[in-house]
Amino acid sequence: MIIAVDGPAASGKGTIARALARHFGLPHMDTGLLYRAVALQLFRWGGDPGNEFEALRACHELGVDPADPELRTETVSKFASAVSAYPSVRTALLERQQEFAGQPGGAVLDGRDIGTVIAPQADAKLFVTASPEVRAARRHQELVGRGMAAHLADVLNDIRARDARDASRETAPLRQADDAILLDTSGLDVNAAIAEAIRLVEERLALP
Ligand code: DC
Repeated sequence: MIIAVDGPAASGKGTIARALARHFGLPHMDTGLLYRAVALQLFRWGGDPGNEFEALRACHELGVDPADPELRTETVSKFASAVSAYPSVRTALLERQQEFAGQPGGAVLDGRDIGTVIAPQADAKLFVTASPEVRAARRHQELVGRGMAAHLADVLNDIRARDARDASRETAPLRQADDAILLDTSGLDVNAAIAEAIRLVEERLALP
């Protein structure tokens, strides 16, 4: 059983994907982390995110710890959004994601193109979204909670810019798959969003 969870930044898709994985007893992959790892590698080399060749080299020489907190910084987020637009980078990371999705017993993957490109055959697809204002407020709270200085207006601008970049790129843009279920978490707290996601997936899978 494959569950695909896609959506924009700070929509709650990661939290929802982890909860679905726990609920259904499936392994989970946060595919954004792959792009972030490439971005951080490039950043550490002092590389240029505007250079596709350098970004591709970072894919092939990944030496980043997936638990590194630096993967979540705003600089890495911006680099990740830039490198993820390169077709060669997406191709280099494709196999790893499809292998994870194809493991016996299934998996939950979250990202931007799971339901459209990585696992179009997924048994259940959620497209998780929320208004830019709600997502900015969440991301702002998260940054402040981690002791980082952040202004809400800047976070909102960044989110809008990243949405536009992720949705307008030519290769695997952020888009809801035709057969994905839309889950808007704007008015939901974490527990309510998780409960609704589980309900929607069970309904789609026709589970009792
Ligand atoms: O979900 P995230 O914010 O950790 O993702 C980081 C960046 O990677 C984001 O700008 C979009 C990109 N990404 C992607 O293009 N495809 C995916 N499957 C996952 C993330």
